[in-house]
Amino acid sequence: SRRASVRITEVSPRDGLQYEPEFVPTLRKISLINALSRTGVTEIEAGSFVSPAAVPQLADSDEVLRAIDRIPGVTYSALVPNERGLERARAAGVDKIAVFTAASDSFTRHNIKATVQESLVRFRPLVAAAKRDGMAVRAYLSTVVFCPYEGRVPPTQVRDVMDRLLDLAVDDISLGETVGRASPTDIRKLLDTVLPHVEPARLSLHFHDTYGMAIANALTAWWDYGITAFDASAGGLGGCPYAPGASGNVATEDLVFALKATGADMPVDERLVAVCAHQLGDAVRHPLNSRLSQLHHRD
Ligand code: HMG
Ligand code: MG
Repeated sequence: SRRASVRITEVSPRDGLQYEPEFVPTLRKISLINALSRTGVTEIEAGSFVSPAAVPQLADSDEVLRAIDRIPGVTYSALVPNERGLERARAAGVDKIAVFTAASDSFTRHNIKATVQESLVRFRPLVAAAKRDGMAVRAYLSTVVFCPYEGRVPPTQVRDVMDRLLDLAVDDISLGETVGRASPTDIRKLLDTVLPHVEPARLSLHFHDTYGMAIANALTAWWDYGITAFDASAGGLGGCPYAPGASGNVATEDLVFALKATGADMPVDERLVAVCAHQLGDAVRHPLNSRLSQLHHRD
């Protein structure tokens, strides 16, 4: 029903930080994650086990994942692109890994130096090994409406890659609106096409907010399609080095406010998230521009 509980995967420690040019000290990352753990979010993407040459900001994820407090009821996950990443994730004791590909080849080539097809072949043994070791697995599917290199992506192309990811028996799939310019009309076309192939409970939506459409998109997905899981980033920080022109993720505190205001039952306290956004703004040394973080002042 419309009052079903809505879950947030907090991605600021990963998507939020990955494109920040100035290195954020490891201790600051740890204290940010510890504060986020107490906001009511059910899942935190706490790091990324990618090549440190690709994302230098997150080269310390091993140390971060080992040092954080593990709050019961919170799942701590991290990105894993290959076998080496899986070893690091295993050693750091993550609960869940996230593999990532896209609906368009050009983005996938820039991002992980593989075609979509090659990425799916690469993931099969990774997903199986992670599950054998008791880790849950998320799969990201990026460029679900626009590709930064190819332009508009047809929903049927997204559905076909999603079907292949479902074949790998991943626990959930996050559809990434990487560029952040889709409208509710685009999201309807996408969900009309993919939902006949997947249970809504297995889908998360991941909106970037470049054109200010993310909240409208999330409300459409929740109200009209029963999607109850969204990715978001405190303060709206975020960006992908391989998606030129795209800006931050939807701000967690603003999304939670909008969902609660329209009737969602959620355990997240948006005021505590706004406090985390201030902490994050201090860490990256520039202000963040979410609405709520500008209302709720620092202590
Ligand atoms: P490659 O160059 O083909 O990899 O990169 P390689 O296997 O040839 O290795 C090259 C070097 O990297 C080697 O070191 C490896 O050891 C090292 P060298 O011998 O030259 O010294 N290396 C690693 N080191 C540590 N951990 C690892 C690892 N892998 C290789 N895991 C690769 C291929 C996939 C590794 C690279 O392209 C990569 O790491 N890409 C990640 C890019 C990335 O993180 N993008 C952002 C995340 S996706 C995103 O933001 C979108 C999302 O938010 C959803 C949305 O918004 O749509 C999820
Ligand atoms: Mg993203």
